[in-house]
Parts: sequence; C-alpha cells; structure tokens
Amino acid sequence: MTQLENLLAKITSRSATVGVIGLGYVGLPLALLFEESGFPVIGFDVDPKKPEALRRGESYIRHIGPERIGKAFGNGRISATSDFGRLTECDAILVCVPTPLGKHREPDLTFIRTTTETIASHLRPGQLVVLESTTYPGTTREEVFPRLEAGGLKCGRDFFLAFSPEREDPGNATFHTKNTPKIVGGLDPVSQEVATALFAAAVDRVVPVSSPEVAEAAKLMENIFRSVNIALVNEMKVVLDRMGIDVWEVIEAAKTKPFGYMPFYPGPGLGGHCIPLDPFYFAWKAAEHGVWARFIELAGEINTAMPHYVVDKTVKALNAHGKSIRGARVLVLGLAYKPDIDDDRESPSFEIIELLKNLGADVAYCDPYIPKAKKVRKHDLGLVSVPCTADEFARHDALLVATAHTAFRQPALYASVRLLVDTRNLFPAGTLACPVVRA
Ligand SMILES: NC(=O)c1ccc[n+]([C@@H]2O[C@H](COP(=O)([O-])OP(=O)(O)OC[C@H]3O[C@@H](n4cnc5c(N)ncnc54)[C@H](O)[C@@H]3O)[C@@H](O)[C@H]2O)c1
Repeated sequence: MTQLENLLAKITSRSATVGVIGLGYVGLPLALLFEESGFPVIGFDVDPKKPEALRRGESYIRHIGPERIGKAFGNGRISATSDFGRLTECDAILVCVPTPLGKHREPDLTFIRTTTETIASHLRPGQLVVLESTTYPGTTREEVFPRLEAGGLKCGRDFFLAFSPEREDPGNATFHTKNTPKIVGGLDPVSQEVATALFAAAVDRVVPVSSPEVAEAAKLMENIFRSVNIALVNEMKVVLDRMGIDVWEVIEAAKTKPFGYMPFYPGPGLGGHCIPLDPFYFAWKAAEHGVWARFIELAGEINTAMPHYVVDKTVKALNAHGKSIRGARVLVLGLAYKPDIDDDRESPSFEIIELLKNLGADVAYCDPYIPKAKKVRKHDLGLVSVPCTADEFARHDALLVATAHTAFRQPALYASVRLLVDTRNLFPAGTLACPVVRA
C-alpha cells in the first residue's frame, strides 16, 4: 500500500488522527468538528491554559458553549495538549496559528514559520499538513513546503501539503464550520486528493482549486471585498453627512434593489482578526511583484481614519451642547468589534477611547460581554466595564455607541441621557427623546 492509499483508507474508516495546531477562534471549532465527525483528534496549543481548560470541559470562547466542549472531551476521542511530541501520532495536521501584522503593517509569519519547523522536526511518512491561517499567495509553497522537505521526505510521495482557508464567522447562527464550503488547494495532485478527502469527511461541501496560491488568494479576495466595500460606505457616510442626508436611510432605500447591490454598513472603524489585517498581506506581496494594490491601500486609509472621524464628531457634538471635550465624561458603548460577542481583537473602540483620553475626556466603557479591558498588543486601557443601567448612562455628558449589542437596544436606558453619538444606527432617527448625533 502506498502512503496515499494508506491515508485515504484511514480517512474513509475515520481512524485517521487529526491534529489541530492553534486552538483559537478557528482551530477549536475545527477540532470539535472532526471529533463530531467521528475522527480521533489531538488539539495543540503553545498556551498551556487552553488545553488545561478544555480538559476540564471549560470553554474560553463564548459562542462555543461548555456543553459542546464537555460532550466532546467526555467521549474520549479528543485530547488537548502542549506536548508537540504527539504530532507523530497524527495522520493529518491542520495549522490554525495567528497571522498578525508587524509594526510597519508587514506580514508577520513568525507563528507559521515556528509551527512549520516544529512539524518538520516530527514529520513522518504518510502525514498530511494543511495550512489554514490567512496569508498572502505563495506562503504554503515558499515558507511551508521547503521547511517540510528539508528533512528529506518528498511532498506528494512521502507526505502531503495543502492550503485550505478558514471562513469562520464567530457567533454566526446560520453558518458554521460544517455548512460553510471549504476551499482546498493542494501543492500537487496527490496532496489535493488526500486533503479533499479529509475535509469531505467533515464538511458539507469541499471546493477543490488548482493550487494553494488560488486558495490563499480566494480567502484574501473575500476579506478585501469586505474591506473595500466598508470603506466605500464609510466614505459615503462622511460625504452624505456634509450634505445633511442620513446614510442609513439611503442604504435602506438602496437595498430594496433586488439585484446588483449588496448592503454594507458604516461604522467607527474596522475590527476583528481578519478585515483590518488581511488586505495588507496582499498589498505587501503585490509590491514584491512591482505592482501597487491602490484600491486596497485606499480602503485601509479610509477605514483607519474612522475612529478619528467619530471622535471629531463627538467633540463637535459636545461643543454644540456647551461642553468642552476636556473634562467631559464620555461613555463608550461596546468594546467588542461586533454585536453580541466577546471578541475585542482590533476593535476600533480601543483607539476611540485613547483618542478621547488624549483630548482630556474622562472616558469609561460599558460592554456586558467584556467585564475588563485586557491588555492588547497596542493598548492597555486599564478599565473595567460600568453597568448597563439607565442610572449609569445618565451620569455621563455623552454616550458614544461603538458596538450594536442587543443589550444597548432598550430605549428606557436612554431616558436621562444628555447626548448620544451613534455610529451604528442603534435607534432609527427620531425614536429617542434624547439628543442624537450620527457619526
Ligand atoms: N477569527 C476569525 O474569525 C478567523 C476567520 C478566518 C480565518 N482566520 C485566520 O485563522 C488564523 C487563526 O486565527 P484565530 O482567530 O483562530 O486566532 P486565535 O488567536 O484565536 O488563535 C490562535 C491560537 O494559536 C495559538 N498559537 C500561537 N502560536 C502557536 C504555535 N506556535 N503552536 C501552537 N499554537 C500556537 C495561540 O495560543 C492561540 O490559541 C489566522 O490566520 C486568522 O487570520 C480567523
């Protein structure tokens, strides 16, 4: 039996052990999905607290409930560890480590490189390695492939390599890992066959493409599409505001067109692990090929200017109410980057709070999902959430809506609010008694 036949047989019988490296927002649901599809699974993370929590049946990601963790780990088919020696037990290794940006907005591939070297030191014949982390086209071939082949094993014969991007949307009630189509691009036809077979055993639909580069670029295209369209609607917001036209009403009207239009909504800036970062991976790689991704850069410029725009509108709104920003008590509603989740990564609220503080405002935040603002790469706010009550809301000179959490949608909370600056159209125009400024 060849390595390929052997691995395909194990996949068919669901006896192939699936290793998932990086048990975060992407890796954890993927590991659970394979467990739930009947495969033995080993989850790996450098942060020992994560495997420890999972082994206790606890979840550290809000939308993945402890019941699901408890059930999976109770079955005994899945384990979690920081012992990378156990990689030799795996037949397939799925890499879900972070891909952040460096200080100068350049791709930081440290996590991918370190992980690949760890895999390379344990690589044995018959293993499939799949990179899942979002990255620029060429990463699998240029960074992962040579490191794995350095030990003498040959890709396509001894081991197999593919790229398959994640499309995880944390908190999405309709689409999850199983029913979201999965793009797969193998480095060679054999790798493609085995990677497709593995994912077909767990997800509803696999979309094979001709190379890892197509799969890498497809993921970036999806995220760049969002970034550019959000920038466009943010620009429309700024221009329409000058014209005295409500952008939200314009969007509602435009989206009644049943074809050729898709609504995107303005906001205080981009958030999350993907949209604010991934486009720059593409722009960086474009420069290597002597071309400029001008649209992408422009979208980045417009979107990163949004926190400044929102703060500027807040300053002017306070001024119009006879209050200087220096010494004003401002309450920012929402630290998470999107509604009803506890994910604060790259959230524009951090920058908004810093900008307001720099202007001398006395800033607090309220987020029922994030009781304490943890230290993140660029910010250390040192704040805890104030309660989400009408009494608390009444204590501030201005409230600034940054996240449309459902908890903020009760009109009674705003009964004694002095000024509301709304970046999310939390309440349609004219529905609150307090003064409302759109930003
Ligand atoms: N969060 C999303 O919604 C989303 C969606 C699609 C794609 N992605 C992409 O998926 C990748 C992972 O993102 P995420 O949101 O899951 O990140 P995350 O920060 O939630 O999780 C990453 C995990 O990897 C661990 N880790 C870091 N270095 C490691 C190493 N060397 N070995 C083992 N574990 C290591 C971290 O401790 C962490 O638990 C990124 O490339 C991201 O762009 C994320």
